[in-house]
Amino acid sequence: MLTEQKVLNLLKGLQDPFLHKTLEETNGIVEIKLKPEKEHVSVKIAIAKTGTGEQLQMQTNIVNILKNAGANTVGIRFAELPDEVLQKFRGSEPKQQGESLLSPDSKTKFLAIASGKGGVGKSTVSVNLAVALARLGKKVGLVDADIYGFSVPDMMGITQRPIVRGEKIIPVERMGVKVISMGFFVEDNAPVIWRGPMLGKMLNNFFSDVEWGELDYLLLDLPPGTGDVALDVHSMLPKCNEIIVTTPHPTAAFVAARAGAMALRTEHTILGVIENMSYFESELTQEKEYVFGQGGGKRLSEELQTVLLGQLPLQQPDWDENDFAPSIYGADHKLGKIYGDIAGKVVDLLANR
Ligand SMILES: Nc1ncnc2c1ncn2[C@@H]1O[C@H](COP(=O)(O)OP(=O)(O)OP(=O)(O)O)[C@@H](O)[C@H]1O
Ligand SMILES: [Mg+2]
Repeated sequence: MLTEQKVLNLLKGLQDPFLHKTLEETNGIVEIKLKPEKEHVSVKIAIAKTGTGEQLQMQTNIVNILKNAGANTVGIRFAELPDEVLQKFRGSEPKQQGESLLSPDSKTKFLAIASGKGGVGKSTVSVNLAVALARLGKKVGLVDADIYGFSVPDMMGITQRPIVRGEKIIPVERMGVKVISMGFFVEDNAPVIWRGPMLGKMLNNFFSDVEWGELDYLLLDLPPGTGDVALDVHSMLPKCNEIIVTTPHPTAAFVAARAGAMALRTEHTILGVIENMSYFESELTQEKEYVFGQGGGKRLSEELQTVLLGQLPLQQPDWDENDFAPSIYGADHKLGKIYGDIAGKVVDLLANR
């Protein structure tokens, strides 16, 4: 026969799924009521966050415990813990790292790589800037926020998949950069067929469900243009800085200005412009040919009242078959050095923000 005390003893050791403290510690058992004649127990439980999958799991768990102990029927209501309790426990709580990454006092600097149109080299710039920052000894994360058109894993030559520890996804580390990409979660390069709101959720999961650890910089490789995902990033990361990538052609810069205008409207800071595919330099004669026109980067930076962080010529990385990362330039490569330069400027610029 169940008594209030017995129910209390059965439940007090259960953990709040978010605070990872026992219900006894959080005072999470708010009410216990028994109807002995019907062997009915009803309890009211307060946890950190209601309406979640964790709540559902806890509910099943409690029902099982109480039924095993002799209850015929179980009623459960959930409430949220008062703010004082939440604040008391949140501070010491390591599991909330995802949220703390997004919290206003987070030390991590966010840097989104955007462009007005596709194919100008956002992803190439993202992966190489991330690696260049890591070469400077910084702790760097990279989110492949191009949910449909993910490319970061292939560009960096990542063949592993992230492992899951507890409720957290551990990002894959490659060349000193912690990486997360939609590409890790689809089978056999299948197309991603989700739409609007789900995309936002996915991106959110990249922050809340991923164990980033401490990061100096988190880079985001955005999809081209000013669509849904770009907007989500803008609203999710109010303190995000942006780098706009363009080619030197004047019309490319004109299109890129739209991405810049969106950044400004959402109060993101534009850190600078990178002009990619600026010229082709002949290895024989060292002559430069401006195959895609000239001046786009400069013009765009002036229009957005920001700086031109660098100009990258056309050239492929040298491939190392033993450590294959097809889009990463070595530290000694001509472009690798330019990326090193840009990384230095980024560190300086962000130090003052
Ligand atoms: N400086 C460069 N020299 C030679 N090739 C380059 C250079 N920059 C980028 N590329 C190549 O151009 C192509 C497009 O680059 P990338 O995928 O980085 O562009 P993107 O803007 O991310 O494209 P998308 O809009 O599709 O995401 C890739 O094949 C890449 O290897
Ligand atoms: Mg891309």
